[in-house]
Amino acid sequence: MLSRNAHKSVIAGVIINGVEPIWVHPKFDAERHMAHPPEPDDVRDRLREHPDAKGMLLITPTELGSCADIRGVADVCHAADVPLIVDEAWGAHLPFHPGLPSWGMDADADLVVTSVHKMGGAIEQSSVFHLQHDRVSVDVLKQREDLLGTTSASSLVYAALDGWRRQMAEQGHGLLDTALRRAERLRAALDELPGLAVMGDEIVREGLAAEFDPLKIVVDVRDLGITGMQAAEWLRAERHVDVGGSDSCRISASITHSDDDETEKILLEALRSLVDGADSIERQRPVRLPEPRALELEQAVLPRAAFFGPAEQVPAEQAVGRISAETISPYPPGVPVVAPGEVITEEVVDYLRSGIEHGFLVSDAADPSLETFRVLTRP
Ligand SMILES: Cc1ncc(COP(=O)(O)O)c(C=O)c1O
Repeated sequence: MLSRNAHKSVIAGVIINGVEPIWVHPKFDAERHMAHPPEPDDVRDRLREHPDAKGMLLITPTELGSCADIRGVADVCHAADVPLIVDEAWGAHLPFHPGLPSWGMDADADLVVTSVHKMGGAIEQSSVFHLQHDRVSVDVLKQREDLLGTTSASSLVYAALDGWRRQMAEQGHGLLDTALRRAERLRAALDELPGLAVMGDEIVREGLAAEFDPLKIVVDVRDLGITGMQAAEWLRAERHVDVGGSDSCRISASITHSDDDETEKILLEALRSLVDGADSIERQRPVRLPEPRALELEQAVLPRAAFFGPAEQVPAEQAVGRISAETISPYPPGVPVVAPGEVITEEVVDYLRSGIEHGFLVSDAADPSLETFRVLTRP
């Protein structure tokens, strides 16, 4: 069972029933135009509808720091006798400070997958599994890993992981304590700046997030009259500051154990000058953001069958009503809007094409310009 996070398009959870992925939709936050992970009741409902489901895959935290009630979801899964797998790509730091949201292993998940290179300190491709209980067989997991993993293990990766583990075991609490105070100070300073809305604990409420990662500095820039992509581009060009992410509404940055007073100051000063310089940034027609419901496309064919099925490229206007044979994930934020097997709608074509005008990159589509779409040939 998977559920989709960000714009439907971010997958926040999926129930796997052996063949067909069953989506558990995220909590869509219309005010912020972002998605939060699904809640235990959403998972319970889907498991009741699909008693043959084999497991649940939950994505938490999201890239923007919105966290699920992992323990609640784990209880629901275990009551149905299925394992909970957590994609905790953004949570490498969570085990090492009580002021951070809970991490999957503490919250009774069966399997947790973490990208240490994201919020931790390791070189790229340093992802790890954590396994507990006996719902997922260690032999099966190892076999699958052997199938997908490289046969040329990198000692750099292992050394970086070992170094990180040791650093966190010995100094993690202190380092993260400093990072948490830094993030709090930064959030308070940014709150003072006109035109910026800094996300915080207000998202922690029923129907939205269960917890929030305070090390995520998520800043909505719409009141400056620009998009997050424009803000990110301006910061890069004018201040040589690369933020971690951006989308049509906001930019995001992460404070980590490796930040210091200098990096804190650079970020704050850069955002101050963005506020001062925003009037000089060219106004664009806004991206035509679809209603959340419009992002829940009908799955007409299983993803695998559509991906490997007979396909053709058709002009965008003729793609409406056709079944996609590809994944389309505009970056930013890098979340699939269309999955293989889904029926393409006019709203989605409109959204994607207006996003391209604003600089969306769609590297996974066969035609990244989206002038044409890859669809299944008609039978
Ligand atoms: C939720 C989520 N899961 C998995 C990944 C991929 O992780 P990795 O870099 O370890 O391949 C990403 C990458 O951004 C992600 O956001």
